[in-house]
Amino acid sequence: MTKSLFPIVVLIGGNGSNLQALIDNAADYQIKGVISHNPNVFGLVRAQNAGISAEVIDHRAYPSREAFEEALLVTLKTYAPKLLVLAGFMRILSPYFLDRCPIPILNIHPSLLPKYKGLDTHQRVIDNKEKEHGVSVHFVTKELDGGPIVAQVKVPVYINDTVELLSKRVFAAEHWLYPQIVRWFAQNRLKYSPHRVTLDGSPLGPQGETLQQSFEQGTVS
Ligand code: GRF
Repeated sequence: MTKSLFPIVVLIGGNGSNLQALIDNAADYQIKGVISHNPNVFGLVRAQNAGISAEVIDHRAYPSREAFEEALLVTLKTYAPKLLVLAGFMRILSPYFLDRCPIPILNIHPSLLPKYKGLDTHQRVIDNKEKEHGVSVHFVTKELDGGPIVAQVKVPVYINDTVELLSKRVFAAEHWLYPQIVRWFAQNRLKYSPHRVTLDGSPLGPQGETLQQSFEQGTVS
């Protein structure tokens, strides 16, 4: 008898390169479904190519955020996931959704949180002449980009960096990091309750784990 893998659902909204990394490096978890809030995005093609059920819940088709989120909750239930993984999902999940979603939610954000919450992180990092930038994986709470951080990876910022160069380096770190964290959760090494996040039984610090790997140049698919 084959062991059933830990079921997850991935929410996307665009290119889906993180989804691709999660597909290519899947171990211990299984992506049961992919849901996009945007139709016609490449992430949906990536899911279909991998034989994963993919659907669109277009936020523009709903009269309110609540109605959109209700549709999301109903669809999610059909996949019975134990973890929800946000990967480029560009809608803020409101307290309505968060109060009703029965499973933990992970997100990946392109900055060293708590610095640079929100959008356009690469441009802001360059404008501020930062020497380092990076990526954070965190649990989602009602505080935007403010839930407990699980892990971060730092990347260097060079003097002549452009958004394009820097984002390639950050994407390479994202693709390396995210599948590992999802795997930790599937393996029950990473545990979440609203006031306590532990890895291998020890509480995580405010910055989570710092994992390091060299992302000097970076490659993106
Ligand atoms: C990534 O930069 C991720 O950190 C952010 O949205 C982007 C999604 O990119 N949350 P992709 O769709 O996975 O290529």
